[in-house]
Amino acid sequence: MSTPSLLILPGDGIGPEVMREVRRIIDWFGARRGLAFDVSEDLVGGAAYDAHGTPLHDDTMARAQAADAVLLGAVGGPKYDDLDFSVKPERGLLRLRKEMDLFSNLRPAQCFDALADFSSLKRDVVAGLDIMIVRELTSGVYFGEPRGIFTEGNERVGVNTQRYTESEIRRVAISAFELAMRRSRKLCSMEKANVMESGILWREVVTEVGRDYPEVELSHMYADNGAMQLVRWPRQFDVIVTDNLFGDILSDCAAMLTGSLGMLPSASLGAPMANGRPKALYEPVHGSAPDIAGQGKANPIACILSFAMALRYSFDQGAEAARLEAAIEQVLADGVRTADLMGPEGGVPVSTEGMGDAIIAALEASL
Ligand code: IPM
Ligand code: MG
Repeated sequence: MSTPSLLILPGDGIGPEVMREVRRIIDWFGARRGLAFDVSEDLVGGAAYDAHGTPLHDDTMARAQAADAVLLGAVGGPKYDDLDFSVKPERGLLRLRKEMDLFSNLRPAQCFDALADFSSLKRDVVAGLDIMIVRELTSGVYFGEPRGIFTEGNERVGVNTQRYTESEIRRVAISAFELAMRRSRKLCSMEKANVMESGILWREVVTEVGRDYPEVELSHMYADNGAMQLVRWPRQFDVIVTDNLFGDILSDCAAMLTGSLGMLPSASLGAPMANGRPKALYEPVHGSAPDIAGQGKANPIACILSFAMALRYSFDQGAEAARLEAAIEQVLADGVRTADLMGPEGGVPVSTEGMGDAIIAALEASL
């Protein structure tokens, strides 16, 4: 097989500086584990707008379609707040998701033991937490038509449409069941079947798909109750599957349980390509943090963990992904902290690069 290609889109704000550390990690795997990648870089978001007047150039879109995996930093910043909606940095990201048809968005919420006291919940509620939210990413109210701001009589009306086809529900459900099979075989589907027809169909189709996975224990929950249960007793869940908008909200809620938004990666997966790999984009859950950009303060862990997800889901390197995750756990257990991870007890934070150094040292020690 030819060398797999990895397209890197650092984006805006802290994106470029955290991505610099990811590139060092990629180089380490090349030099020390024989995992070669054909790495190239391009622009997205505000950076692409500055260069080309669009948050995603067509050439970049084509390169993303052709890559074995895309790794994205972050997009957006105050400089772009007043731009027209159609060229806002976020539109670049939404276009990638939509045109690559990345319908299955995996958002793990994992509580690192060394950071359990950072959660707004008590340690015993969150310690050991390891759940995965599968969010439908290419349909629902984010994309449904009609949409717009219209005039009706003498007032304006804002319209968005929640719309799901059976096949859209089925494919994301299958990806969630497959994941559940590889984890603890427990899946909870969340919707609002009590008030929304799209929720009724969601529940029916997920139940149908479940007949092909008798080993998986399937449950259903209204999404509002799901939000409450996530905060009350999050460890009752393993894999959660839900639609685009509920997934957006529930995944932020789950992320906060871990106390460290700067630590969480994500994977957005589509249908298999000719080489059998899924179309894939990996990105940290955090944003571009313009307030600290360019100062070497950012925590690169979420972006590095996104590369670990790429190793696992795109390149079949689960053992090497686990090596990288263990190195990060080790570094945290050793007390290495970027500024965002400083507790009330204080201490001296390491820089973005310092965190990269520590992780590489832990990787070396793992050999
Ligand atoms: C996310 C973000 C995006 C979303 C924004 C930036 C468009 O909140 O990835 O969760 O709403 O999907
Ligand atoms: Mg969000």
